[in-house]
Amino acid sequence: MNSKIPYLICFLYANIFILEIYGQNTYKAAVVEFTPKLTADTPKNRVLENVEDYLNYIEDAADQHVDIILFPEYGLTGANIDPRDLSEVSTEVPNPDDSISPCTNSANYSKALIDLSCAAATNAMYVVINIFERVSKSNIFHNTNVIFNRGGTVVARYRKMNLYNESYVAPGNVTATFKTDFGVTFGVIICNDILFGNSSLSVLRDEHVTDILYSAAWATLLPFFGGASVQQGYARANGVNLLASGYNNPTSSLGGSGIYLANGTIADIHVSGAKLSKMLITDVPVLSQRLSPDTCQKAVNFTEEKSTHFGIESMIDINKFRTLKEDLSDYTFKTLNLNQTAIYEFACSGEGSCCYINVTLNKPIANSNYVYKYDPL
Ligand SMILES: *[C@@H]1O[C@H](CO)[C@@H](O)[C@H](O)[C@H]1NC(C)=O
Ligand SMILES: *[C@@H]1O[C@H](CO)[C@@H](O)[C@H](O)[C@H]1NC(C)=O
Ligand SMILES: *[C@@H]1O[C@H](CO)[C@@H](O)[C@H](O)[C@H]1NC(C)=O
Ligand SMILES: *[C@@H]1O[C@H](CO)[C@@H](O)[C@H](O)[C@H]1NC(C)=O
Ligand SMILES: *[C@@H]1O[C@H](CO)[C@@H](O)[C@H](O)[C@H]1NC(C)=O
Ligand SMILES: *[C@@H]1O[C@H](CO)[C@@H](O)[C@H](O)[C@H]1NC(C)=O
Ligand SMILES: *[C@@H]1O[C@H](CO)[C@@H](O)[C@H](O)[C@H]1NC(C)=O
Ligand SMILES: *[C@@H]1O[C@H](CO)[C@@H](O)[C@H](O)[C@H]1NC(C)=O
Repeated sequence: MNSKIPYLICFLYANIFILEIYGQNTYKAAVVEFTPKLTADTPKNRVLENVEDYLNYIEDAADQHVDIILFPEYGLTGANIDPRDLSEVSTEVPNPDDSISPCTNSANYSKALIDLSCAAATNAMYVVINIFERVSKSNIFHNTNVIFNRGGTVVARYRKMNLYNESYVAPGNVTATFKTDFGVTFGVIICNDILFGNSSLSVLRDEHVTDILYSAAWATLLPFFGGASVQQGYARANGVNLLASGYNNPTSSLGGSGIYLANGTIADIHVSGAKLSKMLITDVPVLSQRLSPDTCQKAVNFTEEKSTHFGIESMIDINKFRTLKEDLSDYTFKTLNLNQTAIYEFACSGEGSCCYINVTLNKPIANSNYVYKYDPL
């Protein structure tokens, strides 16, 4: 080399490049809010039509260097499944211990599973899908999430444990975790699981799990079961990053997707009253361990919170999102006097379930009665 200067510049650039990759230490995640197409002539063709849409999202994500993409529960079949169609729309799913790629070892698997495995390999991306699984040649079916690695091999399989009005499938009985080549260990849960310790907490018994993949077809039931608030609550309460992909059908109150960071920040969110599919892509920090649980609601300046997290454009046609209402007849009510700035109340319900209500107001509100409702569960 004639001059040392170009060499030096080159060296500096290389260092900056390395700092960018390892200093920030993030991976790129995509979650898809998805409204399936249900127009094809047969149940099997409907699945394949939705697989085509999935393949387009996977290619689009690959162009944006996504490491892992997540699709929702029931995205391939639609949520209103006729149990008689199960054998037609289901597939065997390889045991992860066998390191099988359906793309290259196709004999026992449906075209849907094979195509998705091939797409993971072609695009060198982790792909997470939900599908009806048929246990080898039996009449036992599961609601299963399948995780393909960048080579198309099935590296994890999670069978939903906490079923919701799904008498046509059998519950799973084991949690599922897997480690990626970007150093993150994921746990997998599906929809209703998030409300039950086994599996939404038991999956965290693997201490390496810092991130959770959550596929859902979740009906929002106000005031306590808003899809997005349950998602963020889980991430904060467990100090994990949560990737959440929701099935979209706002007239049936189904929807809500997001990427929630372990420190309480919402990296991206989508709740829509419009029937549509949408992919969210963000960088997610690689955590060396889970953060401390954060279950105590901090006072936030709502004006600031709103402008940073919830750009109103992320809430498309939100007034058209139909929500269900919970039966509140079993709840204990407490009246708060908002005519003062510091409010301390105490409410008990049933046998010994009590909670403090501490509210700080910037200025008193005269003649206003807000009611606090407390769930005895
Ligand atoms: C298909 O599954 C059967 C067991 O159900 C197994 O014996 C056979 O080897 C599998 N075929 C392939 C190609 O993996
Ligand atoms: C689920 O089943 C329960 C009773 O088993 C019923 O009350 C409820 O309406 C069902 N929910 C849906 C969404 O079908
Ligand atoms: C979770 O539930 C399954 C199925 O009922 C059971 O086999 C398993 O032991 C439970 N795991 C834990 C940690 O409770
Ligand atoms: C889980 O269920 C399978 C059958 O689906 C059974 O073979 C296995 O022993 C069960 N495992 C546990 C831990 O209960
Ligand atoms: C949470 O982490 C993200 C990414 O590292 C960061 O941008 C954000 O400021 C953090 N938020 C809080 C409240 O610490
Ligand atoms: C809340 O944030 C808004 C916008 O940044 C600001 O104008 C307002 O003064 C803040 N209020 C408090 C109590 O900090
Ligand atoms: C607030 O209202 C309650 C009853 O409505 C009354 O007992 C109390 O004295 C009021 N407090 C203040 C600070 O005005
Ligand atoms: C709420 O108020 C009670 C009574 O003043 C106090 O004991 C408790 O520590 C407060 N809780 C929080 C989270 O500030």
